[in-house]
Amino acid sequence: MDLWDRVRGREHPLLPPRRYRRFIGNGDFLKVGREITAYMRDELGMGPGHDVLDAGCGAGRIAVPLTDVLTEGSYLGFDIVPHAIDWCGRTITPRHPNFRFEHVDIHQEIYNPEGTLSSADFRFPAEDAAFDIAALIGLISHLRPAEMENYLAESARVLRPGGQCFATAYLVDDAVAANIVRGETAFSFTHDHGDYYVHSETEPTYAIAYRLEHILSVAARHGLRMRRDPSPGTWGVSTRRPASMDLLVLERA
Ligand SMILES: C[S@@+](CC[C@H](N)C(=O)[O-])C[C@H]1O[C@@H](n2cnc3c(N)ncnc32)[C@H](O)[C@@H]1O
Repeated sequence: MDLWDRVRGREHPLLPPRRYRRFIGNGDFLKVGREITAYMRDELGMGPGHDVLDAGCGAGRIAVPLTDVLTEGSYLGFDIVPHAIDWCGRTITPRHPNFRFEHVDIHQEIYNPEGTLSSADFRFPAEDAAFDIAALIGLISHLRPAEMENYLAESARVLRPGGQCFATAYLVDDAVAANIVRGETAFSFTHDHGDYYVHSETEPTYAIAYRLEHILSVAARHGLRMRRDPSPGTWGVSTRRPASMDLLVLERA
């Protein structure tokens, strides 16, 4: 398919080969990246001088469109998949030296089964209060409760006061919980653990949904409060796939 793209001239200088995009989820890589970036600009007030941390940056889906926005600020992306980080470092950083990428060797059943570090006590590779925005896109759904708590705590640590943690997640309120019971959501999430739901007990980190109030109480423990009501995605109201996740914006006190 990569060869086919090349033959058909379907290459964008910053578009990673399909083999690097395949673990990122469904959808158009460039289009989805631009939509998320537009949301960050319009709703979070992200501007050219901001410093952005992208936890679980994958193959640079957000980084690529951010190169047009963060012309004076900086970007740090980290991920657990070495070849994705290699590609971003080789392709994006030489053109945009204010964009850096770091591989972190965290163990994760699906993405990095040989990894040695743990998400539950991992320290983000960043100083305290160094960022205006911490993005967790498509990441919380792969984190178990203790891991999710550590990632919110670390996001709070690296954010400046007033900085924003921007996350996508499967968020469950009472209406979505009723849809789960009726089988009317894009992922079945039939395994109800109270604060969270898993889609598959044998492969729990494939997809985890969290009760909104649980995420908010964990966030509050670490000085993050909800800035606005979440923007709902489609996953909780329809069985159609691909489905979008909910968008959550938390603010650092
Ligand atoms: C669905 S992809 C999303 C990638 C990227 N954020 C995007 O929007 O294109 C999930 C990403 O999270 C990464 N990931 C999973 N667990 C992680 C962890 N504990 N720490 C950092 N990254 C992780 C995976 O390697 C993968 O790149």
